[in-house]
Amino acid sequence: PVTTLRSVADSLHLEDVALETIAQRFGTPTYVYSRAALTAAFQSWQQALAGRRALVCYAVKANSNLAVLSVFAKLGAGFDIVSGGELARVLAAGGSAGKVVFSGVGKSRTEMRYALEQGIRCFNVESAAELERLNEAAGQLGKKAPIALRVNPDVDPKTHPYISTGLKSNKFGVAFDEALALYRRAASLPNLTISGIACHIGSQLLDPAPVAEAAGKVLGLVDQLAAEGIALDHIDLGGGLGIRYQDETPPSVATYLAPLLEIFAGRKEELCFEPGRSLVGNAGLLLTRVEYLKHGEEKNFAIVDAAMNDLARPALYDAYHEAVAVKASEVPAQRYEIVGPICESGDFLAHDRELALADGDLVALLSAGAYGMTMSSNYNTRGRAAEVMVDGAQAHEVRARETVESLYALERPLP
Ligand code: LLP
Repeated sequence: PVTTLRSVADSLHLEDVALETIAQRFGTPTYVYSRAALTAAFQSWQQALAGRRALVCYAVKANSNLAVLSVFAKLGAGFDIVSGGELARVLAAGGSAGKVVFSGVGKSRTEMRYALEQGIRCFNVESAAELERLNEAAGQLGKKAPIALRVNPDVDPKTHPYISTGLKSNKFGVAFDEALALYRRAASLPNLTISGIACHIGSQLLDPAPVAEAAGKVLGLVDQLAAEGIALDHIDLGGGLGIRYQDETPPSVATYLAPLLEIFAGRKEELCFEPGRSLVGNAGLLLTRVEYLKHGEEKNFAIVDAAMNDLARPALYDAYHEAVAVKASEVPAQRYEIVGPICESGDFLAHDRELALADGDLVALLSAGAYGMTMSSNYNTRGRAAEVMVDGAQAHEVRARETVESLYALERPLP
């Protein structure tokens, strides 16, 4: 699943760097990313959209390390953000505000002002109340806020219920039937300019059909708006393209986009996308070391130095991440529960995996580039993992491991 991972003399390498070397230099647990894999993933979007007026806005929440953002910024990416903090990261990494779209149901006044001052490309507005607040915030700054309404097309994306977002029962977007009235309201507000329309139906999508269905509904609305004299400049179809973790067979970017390009063929609006996972998921892994092997009555445990605070997806979604031994070993393979040191039964990284392991061996948890580090925490006063970006034969530490002192630096004991 990690596209630039290969075995050289029985030892796993990411691009031209041995994972063993990374563990020695930077310690474990460490997230390791491949610049070549990031680049290839972005280029597959660019190629599939070649010749079309389009903008790929990387969804920063998937992995917000400045090095990752800078790789995409250099390739010409736009960015999809969900907080003022993410905007600050994009700017610090060299991204341009003019290519930023701002999603999210709870934008604060402070975030609105910051984004307006920086001159972002578009606010994806998710409610009537937000529309009014944004109009007011823009007025106070003497600016016009560019907006799209995020509409909720009520299609079933057929993915994990926690990550489906386009159903009527979700908190996201404005109901399809209310969109027209809200666009009319937006057109009447003095400090807004209507730029586009947005929708996002869910994540880890393996079937292009629901997105195409949503796009068809959106197009109907675009035409209705045009008939009322509300012309849109862009159509944002969100993110969501899935990746292979285990045995999934996600469509290629080109296959995923084909029905959409057909639906919008010959139309002048710019097409925007907000992919996160498909750009970074299989460009990264979590490198961890076995602390102890423990052979219980019913199960064998490999207790590793990474835990649910580093990679929450297994505990949170029962998500599958492939686990591979970094070096070939002489010891016989056994079935292991791969677990961390945290005091919770939910602290597992992988169930029932056949691996040949000895104490001190390195294990790589694959497909961890998306929603890995960004969802990590300091539970059990564990500093967050280091992050390393491999680029050919070079390995750059792009985030230092957190020190324990930094974890309580903002705290004070009572006098
Ligand atoms: N745009 C919007 C408005 C979103 O809500 C999301 C993801 C994306 C774009 C990017 O979607 P992607 O291309 O990555 O599927 N933590 C979960 C995933 C949550 C996704 C939330 N929204 C996980 O670890 O699977």
